[in-house]
Amino acid sequence: MPSVKDILMSMDYGPAPESAAEVGKWLAARGAFGHFIGGAFTAPGETFATTNPATGEDLALVTQGTEADIAAAVAAARKAQPGWAALPGHERAKWLYAIARHVQKRERFLAVLEVLDNGKPIRETRDIDIPLVARHFYHHAGWAELLAEEFPGAAPLGVCGQIIPWNFPLLMLAWKIAPALAAGNTVVLKPAEYTPLTALAFAEICAEIGLPAGVVNIVTGDGETGAALVAADVDKIAFTGSTEVGRAIRKATAGTGKSLTLELGGKSPFIVCADADLDAAVEGVVDSIWFNQGQVCCAGSRILVAEAVEASFTRHLTDRLAKLRVGDPLDKSVDMGALVHPVQLARVQEMVAAGTAAGARLVQAECALPGKGCFYAPGFLTGVNPANPVADAEIFGPVATVTSFRTPDEAVELANATRYGLAASVWTENVNLAMDLAAKVKAGVVWVNSANIFDAGAAFGGMRESGFGREGGRAGLRDYLRSPEPEEVPEATAAFDTSPMAEAVGQASGIDRTAKMYVGGKQARPDSGQSYAVTQGGRVLGLAGLGSRKDIRNAVEAAAKAGGWGRATAHNRAQVLYYLGENLSARAAEFAARLVEGGHFPDAAALEVDLSIRRAFYYAAQADKFDGAVTATRTAHVTLQMPEPFGIMGIVCPDAAPLLGFVSLVLPAIAMGNRVVAVPAASRPFSATDLSQVLDCSDVPDGVVNIVTGPKEELAAVLARHDEVAALWYAGGAEGRAMVEAESTGNLKPVWATANLDWTGPQGQGRTFLQRATQVKTIWVPYGE
Ligand code: NAI
Repeated sequence: MPSVKDILMSMDYGPAPESAAEVGKWLAARGAFGHFIGGAFTAPGETFATTNPATGEDLALVTQGTEADIAAAVAAARKAQPGWAALPGHERAKWLYAIARHVQKRERFLAVLEVLDNGKPIRETRDIDIPLVARHFYHHAGWAELLAEEFPGAAPLGVCGQIIPWNFPLLMLAWKIAPALAAGNTVVLKPAEYTPLTALAFAEICAEIGLPAGVVNIVTGDGETGAALVAADVDKIAFTGSTEVGRAIRKATAGTGKSLTLELGGKSPFIVCADADLDAAVEGVVDSIWFNQGQVCCAGSRILVAEAVEASFTRHLTDRLAKLRVGDPLDKSVDMGALVHPVQLARVQEMVAAGTAAGARLVQAECALPGKGCFYAPGFLTGVNPANPVADAEIFGPVATVTSFRTPDEAVELANATRYGLAASVWTENVNLAMDLAAKVKAGVVWVNSANIFDAGAAFGGMRESGFGREGGRAGLRDYLRSPEPEEVPEATAAFDTSPMAEAVGQASGIDRTAKMYVGGKQARPDSGQSYAVTQGGRVLGLAGLGSRKDIRNAVEAAAKAGGWGRATAHNRAQVLYYLGENLSARAAEFAARLVEGGHFPDAAALEVDLSIRRAFYYAAQADKFDGAVTATRTAHVTLQMPEPFGIMGIVCPDAAPLLGFVSLVLPAIAMGNRVVAVPAASRPFSATDLSQVLDCSDVPDGVVNIVTGPKEELAAVLARHDEVAALWYAGGAEGRAMVEAESTGNLKPVWATANLDWTGPQGQGRTFLQRATQVKTIWVPYGE
């Protein structure tokens, strides 16, 4: 036992363990858990043990959920859903408040249980995880109260299947369940197999407060149970976990009509500029990659540091590393606990070994690790060349890579040189530079001079292969709501013959019209050199280019060069759209005549042209009105939520309403700053190809709108697979909708696949289109000294 004098000399922390006695009693009393279905626990089935990763000891037995268990849980949720949704928002709010209060009452118990099951330090569960859980339920109780007023006409989705990972077990549960319930959905949630215990304790809270049976159902089990939930009769799947499983879920849900949100992996940049407060930045690293043993999807795992300060920054970092305390996670003076499971420990060890084998140098804390348990000394890797496997792959452990950059532009280039886009952290004392970097980095969340801050009111979620959808705040709630159901309008000419027809044949039969495609601001001939005949009642109206994969590629390339459109001011884009509306108006008669020639009645043609003009004016008006928000979060931050364009969007237009369908989809997309590769109606492409002349004379920059004519499904598939196409809209039949969803798994682009709509009615225009054309970027800007 050290004396007081010894302690004063070394200034070491004494042990300060939190008692696990209460949790121990609870676990001993339960022994083995069944599922929580229809308001009660089932008898345990086939079980497996969940263990304490800090000691290797078994904590409890939990049941491996079967297909039948999932079916029973979904049935219970289905039965409860209409009643839950029918409750006034105020009543649902009361239940959510009750959950929040009970979480708070059991805060210490839940914090300890989470430590035992997950291995993370008590300081984090006590100060971060569990308080945020309560905050989520309070915040969403508020949304339940305000739902009817804030989202008029919106309805819940129904039954939501929710699958969560092991890194923030109870917090991820709260992120999933709170908004779902607030919106009037019921849920079946599957916790991760390594960390099911706090979800089961949460189920007890639901029972304790008497939450109506079936509103919350918890089924434990592994990936197979998760897959069964994905396949079950649910209306939405919300998933957080690995990109690989996210891809499998995208494929499995394609064409099922199930709504989907994915929150996947990341390799988030942590940018330290030359003028950064280096001490603060080093603490930022502690809160970022050395938080939760580095098992954080949004951790700043790629440190990018300005060359001028690299040496001093890494020196500071090495000094700080030496002071981190790794050990018993129940000890309140410990910074880092155990990794979640021996499998994860082995994965981290292998990844780091692969990194050093490929030439990186590991700087690692020389701390004494406990003799048993999944402990891993934190560190960082330098000398990571771009070909090193750790340069882009998630280590998901407490090891960052450190790379230097010379200029802010290079920092942005390096930051964006990844397939992910979840988060970023930016360190500089220059507010202009901070905001410039925040705008240019491709990430759903950006922390300025801070890291890993979360709040129920601020949207969280990724771009690119980090997934789509948001959790938290208004945007998160929207993902649990169905907008007023659009009516499907059957397409008159769904299957149109686009078999090739040599131009010469066309000309021989006296056709003088061959519509060119429009790529990069120029008329373009199809790469195949072939055209197809556009017919009406057996009469050939003209020929259109038979576009193929190569034409789509050219169009995407042209769109990629038009990046300036996204950076143009909203006022600028508005002006261009007004001008477009005016120019279309000047040629209204000509466009109407074209529609009549294609089979429209004159009145319908005039209406379609008139509405198209109106739409141009509407989106011109919205271009600088569709704003973001400043959200009230709990910390001293101005938290901005800004709608950002995706970049390049693919738009596959409906066959019906050849002009209005095209305009209704393309204009909101470009109003928000996207560039578009559009495939117009195959049966009536001329309205769109004629529109290229209007685009030309309306100051729409080259490459902002590109038009490729030809076979709809084939071109749609190419767009769905294209890695540079960041989002895809498809209007058409069920088979095509399923196809584009299934084909989009490569870069996991968000897909809006809709039936043909009544483009003339209210559902053909509105803010929903603008929401779908953007993704929310949340930027945390701190204030105060
Ligand atoms: P995982 O993606 O396999 O597990 C996450 C959840 O999905 C768990 O509940 C699991 O049971 C479930 N699941 C697994 N396969 C499924 C399937 N086919 N269908 C439906 N659900 C399924 O992640 P895992 O294996 O635990 O970790 C592997 C790697 O994934 C980590 O090293 C890390 O890189 C990444 N990861 C990322 C997380 C994030 O927050 N983005 C969280 C956890 C892991």
